[in-house]
Amino acid sequence: MNHLRVLSGIQPTGGLHLGNYLGAIRHWVAMQDTHECLYCIVDLHAITLSQSPDTLRRHTLEMAAALMACGIDPKRSMLFPQSAVFGHAELAWVLGCHTPLGWLNRMTQFKEKAGKQRDMAVLGLYSYPVLQAADILLYKATHVPVGEDQKQHLELARDIAGAFNRACGEEFFPLPEPLILGETTRVMSLRDGRAKMSKSDPSEYSRIHLDDDADTIALKIRKAKSDMIEGMSISEDRPEAANLLGIYAAITGRTLRQAQEECQAMNFSSFKALLTEALVAHLTPIREKLLAIREDTASLHAILNEGIERAQAIARPHLKEVYRLTGFYA
Ligand code: TYM
Repeated sequence: MNHLRVLSGIQPTGGLHLGNYLGAIRHWVAMQDTHECLYCIVDLHAITLSQSPDTLRRHTLEMAAALMACGIDPKRSMLFPQSAVFGHAELAWVLGCHTPLGWLNRMTQFKEKAGKQRDMAVLGLYSYPVLQAADILLYKATHVPVGEDQKQHLELARDIAGAFNRACGEEFFPLPEPLILGETTRVMSLRDGRAKMSKSDPSEYSRIHLDDDADTIALKIRKAKSDMIEGMSISEDRPEAANLLGIYAAITGRTLRQAQEECQAMNFSSFKALLTEALVAHLTPIREKLLAIREDTASLHAILNEGIERAQAIARPHLKEVYRLTGFYA
């Protein structure tokens, strides 16, 4: 059996929001107890959309602070910026030579991000999922905890691993298992229950950031879209009610069914008050830690440097093997 190894990544574009936290990061934290974990701040991915260098540098450090505030423990897990470990981009090149264009053409995220002007989208955005496969396979990771939106990219990573293995005639890469955990795997925008909560939404009211203070959280929940139906319930035609109940369930550790039973007689405004209270109680300690850790940039640099070294030690021999199997001079 393969050694159990977790890898996941997050883009350093803006801070952490509730979708990242509930869909992925809280599971990253829990997995530290059972697996060897690598958590990667994917700056190479971030430049597929234009970034100012100073902002990217600052966001990378802030993301490290935010992940630690959520409970990522750099003593147990490797926390590092992707670009600093040699091998991600190199392996992506090799894997790109095993990836038929037809597989990439199916990727819905590319279609969404490229929008109508597809011919003007950069090559990096198109080959983004190949780099994501490289992130995982460089460490021969076996498990990848992500939110639901990453499912298609992970299926592709498995296909690419299989294609490489077939080409070299051995089971070199384990096929990585996506872990899409819990009932709240896709947190939706507070302004539109049919759109994903995302950093790229122009409206600040669409999402809650983990460094929002109690007043901001209260305001965003108060302004969250609601409907005119009495009581709180989960159904296809009530995406906003379903989303808020999903958030309430996840943040309080209830099942969706328990949350719905508890709140079925409430109207939107009393439910929103309850949800605000639960969010503030859960997020305030994280916010306080975040504000403190963010200030200590010397410690953050030391932590990332250590993460880079530990990750590099795993990556280097794997890349060497890939080069040998490929027939490169070494
Ligand atoms: P990113 O930076 O968009 O998001 C980081 C993690 O947060 C999850 N997530 C959500 N979950 C539920 N509801 C939401 N509204 C929501 N928004 C984001 C994402 O599913 C993800 O788990 N391509 C990846 C980063 C990446 C990666 C990797 C992930 C690069 N290499 C290797 C896993 C393994 C991304 O852009 O995530």
